Amino acid sequence: MPSIDNPTEKTLAALAINDPLAIEDLFAMEKSRFDKQLAAKNPDEVNYTLMKNAWLGRKAGVLTLITENWLKSASPTLKPIVGQSLNQLKHHIEGSLEIFRIAAEKTSEEIASARERVDLSLPGVIRTIGSHHLIRQVFQEIEDIFFSIGFSVVEGPEIETPYYNFEALNIPEFHPVRDDMDTFYIDLPKGAPTPLLLRTHTSPMQIRTMEKRQPPVRVIVPGKIYRRDNPDATHSFMFHQVEGLAVDTDITFCDFTGTIEYFVKQFFGPGVKTRLRPSYFPFTEPSVEFDGSCIFCGGSGTAAGGGTCSKCKGAGWIELFGAGMVDPAVYGFVNYDAKKVSGFAFGIGIDRLAMLKYGIDDIQVFFQNDVRFLRQFP
Ligand code: DAH
Repeated sequence: MPSIDNPTEKTLAALAINDPLAIEDLFAMEKSRFDKQLAAKNPDEVNYTLMKNAWLGRKAGVLTLITENWLKSASPTLKPIVGQSLNQLKHHIEGSLEIFRIAAEKTSEEIASARERVDLSLPGVIRTIGSHHLIRQVFQEIEDIFFSIGFSVVEGPEIETPYYNFEALNIPEFHPVRDDMDTFYIDLPKGAPTPLLLRTHTSPMQIRTMEKRQPPVRVIVPGKIYRRDNPDATHSFMFHQVEGLAVDTDITFCDFTGTIEYFVKQFFGPGVKTRLRPSYFPFTEPSVEFDGSCIFCGGSGTAAGGGTCSKCKGAGWIELFGAGMVDPAVYGFVNYDAKKVSGFAFGIGIDRLAMLKYGIDDIQVFFQNDVRFLRQFP
């Protein structure tokens, strides 16, 4: 900005300058003013344009002012000196600004390339890797155990018909065991061919498998199941089972108990004993409940510090799951000849087994997705 005191806004006469030496001084002052201004600025494009306009700008640049105010009105004797000095100053300014412009270009390139540069010596970004949910891990443990003795995996629909969930498993409508398996029914349009429900167990896959395959059948069925249960420490409206089914022409009760015992020892460790108690399921006959010796007190019923073991309540045994020899009535639903085939089935509650094995006392933690819980099972 030209100021009031700016000599370039006045004529030489007004400045009372009339000898060559004084003119040279005047130009030297302008030159050093320019040099100082330029030195104080960072070399970048904006500063370059500012300086160029201020000094070389056609309308109000310093050199234009000097031409107008000093040169044009200079006396004939001084004019050549003013003209020559003006040329030198112009030359100096143009040269310096060009150097400044090149420096500005270089720094902007450096900034851009620094921004793009990849520093391979920097530590990498550590991304946390997820892991399988404990329930899935337990599924896999169980699958591996049964794979090792010749079973394979089949999976089936979570939305089932009452026929597969109940009738074909020898549970007719109005049979009292349906009370334990109250479930969710799907709203269907009027006239739908069959009601649909969320399966209450993985057992319907016994039927679906036998409909498709002829014996020998050896399958396990991991999956989600649903019941109209209110959530508490041991109940959830959705949980998990692994169903098992083995049918052939010569399967005995010994094969059945031997298989279950093998599984229990593989899963809980060789020290665990098994026992069975009579039970009832409509689709097995005879039916049993398998118990394992309590893994917390070693089957003694006494806690480590004395007193009753809280896990088995002093019994020394913990109920594990239901099982049995396939009821011949079931074969009737799948066109197997009940006189020729025999087999066994079991239904393992995965959440319950996982809770026992890993000492978890609330089933709800499986479904709350709290990473503080999940991280304990990497
Ligand atoms: N489906 C039964 C339930 O959910 C469990 C069960 C018991 C399955 C005995 C079986 C079995 O295959 O033989 O309560």
